[in-house]
Amino acid sequence: MSYNVNEKGYYGEFGGAFIPEMLYPNVEELRQNYLKVMNEPDFKAEFNQLLKDYVGRPSPLYFAKRLSEKYNTKIYLKREDLNHTGAHKINNTIGQILMAKRLGKTRIIAETGAGQHGVATATVCALMGLECIVYMGEIDIARQAPNVARMKMLGATVVPATSGSKTLKDATNEAIRDWISNPVNTHYIIGSVVGPHPYPDMVARFQSVVSEEIKSQLKTHEDTETPDHVIACVGGGSNAAGAYYHFLDDENVNLIAVEAAGHGVNSGESAATSVLGKMGIIHGSKTLLMQTNDGQITEPYSISAGLDYPGVGPMHAHLYASGRAEFIAITDDQAMNAGLELCKLEGIIPAIESSHALAVFEQKTFKPDAIVVVSLSGRGDKDLETYIKHFNL
Ligand SMILES: Cc1ncc(COP(=O)(O)O)c(C=O)c1O
Repeated sequence: MSYNVNEKGYYGEFGGAFIPEMLYPNVEELRQNYLKVMNEPDFKAEFNQLLKDYVGRPSPLYFAKRLSEKYNTKIYLKREDLNHTGAHKINNTIGQILMAKRLGKTRIIAETGAGQHGVATATVCALMGLECIVYMGEIDIARQAPNVARMKMLGATVVPATSGSKTLKDATNEAIRDWISNPVNTHYIIGSVVGPHPYPDMVARFQSVVSEEIKSQLKTHEDTETPDHVIACVGGGSNAAGAYYHFLDDENVNLIAVEAAGHGVNSGESAATSVLGKMGIIHGSKTLLMQTNDGQITEPYSISAGLDYPGVGPMHAHLYASGRAEFIAITDDQAMNAGLELCKLEGIIPAIESSHALAVFEQKTFKPDAIVVVSLSGRGDKDLETYIKHFNL
C-alpha cells in the first residue's frame, strides 16, 4: 500500500479537489506547475539556501536525557521550535512564497490558528516584498495576541473571522472567499496538509526536510537512520507529515499521531477527529471530519489554537483508516502538564500544540532501548498567557 498521494490527488479514498468552479483556474495552475517548479535546480537551490541561512536549518535532534530517564526510553526531540519564527510552519511558507513568485503572484493571503503560520507567512512576505493579508478567528486573535502583534509589525493586515466558532476553520473559509474574489494576482499560502490537491502533497514535500534531517542526525547519534517511533501532534497534520514523510513506507517505524481531546473525547468539546469524524468534505478535500448526522460541521474545541480544527488532512485520514499510524487523543489538562514537565526537566518551553505530543509518554510505555523521536513543532512564547492562567503562575 502507498501512503503518498497518487496521480489523481488521493491518499487511499481521501483527498481530491472539491472546489467551487471560480477557484478551478488557480488550483489547476498550481497543480500543473508545482512539481515542475519544485524540481527546478534554481528553485531547489534558493529553497535550501533560505532554509539554511534564514531559518537556521538543520534544526537540532536533541537527546532529552532527563525526560528519557523519567520514562525509561530514548527520547529525541526534533527542535522545530528553534527555527526562525518559532515553529515548523516557516519551512512551508518559504517554499510557497518561492512558488508564488515563480507563478507571477503579487498578493499573498493566508489563514492562521495559533498565529504561527500567519507569522511565518508575514515574515516571508516581508522578505520578498509582497502584500500579505492574514485571516484569523476572533477567539484566536485574543488567545494568541503576541503573534497578532508580530504579524502587524511585519507589515501584514490581520482580518478577524467572526463566524462559527471564530477559530481556524472560520479563518480558512474567509481566506477561500478572498481567493475567489481575487483569482488572478493572489496566491493562497495554506498552512497545513489540508485543502484541495495539490496543497496536501506540496506542503508535505516542503515539510519533508524534517524527516530527511532526522534520518541523517540519527545516524550520528545512534548509528541507524530509522527510529522505532515518531510522535507528532496533528492539527491539519503538517508537522506530522514532515516528521513521518521519509518513514511512511517503512512499516518498522511506528507512527503516532496525537490529536486534541479538549475537555475529553466525548465531552462535546474536543477536536479528536479520528475518533469523532466521518468522511466528509472540508476546505476542498475529502477527509475525516467532525460533523452532525446531517453533515453540518461540528464546532471543534481545544485549548491549543493550532489543533482546534474539525478535520485532518487526507494523508492522515488515510494513515488512520489503513491503520498505518496509531492515533492518540490527549486532553487539555494532560497536554498542559506535559508542557510544564518539559520546562522543568529540559529547560524548554514548548508550544501547547507540541505539548500534546509530549503527553503520550504518560499514556503509553516504550521499551527502554526504543528510539522515540518527538516533533517539537514550536516554542511556547505565544502561549505564556494560557500557561499562566492554567497553572495560576
Ligand atoms: C507549534 C505548532 N504545532 C502544531 C501546529 C498544528 O499544525 P499542523 O498539524 O499542520 O502541524 C501548529 C498550528 O498552528 C503550531 O503552531
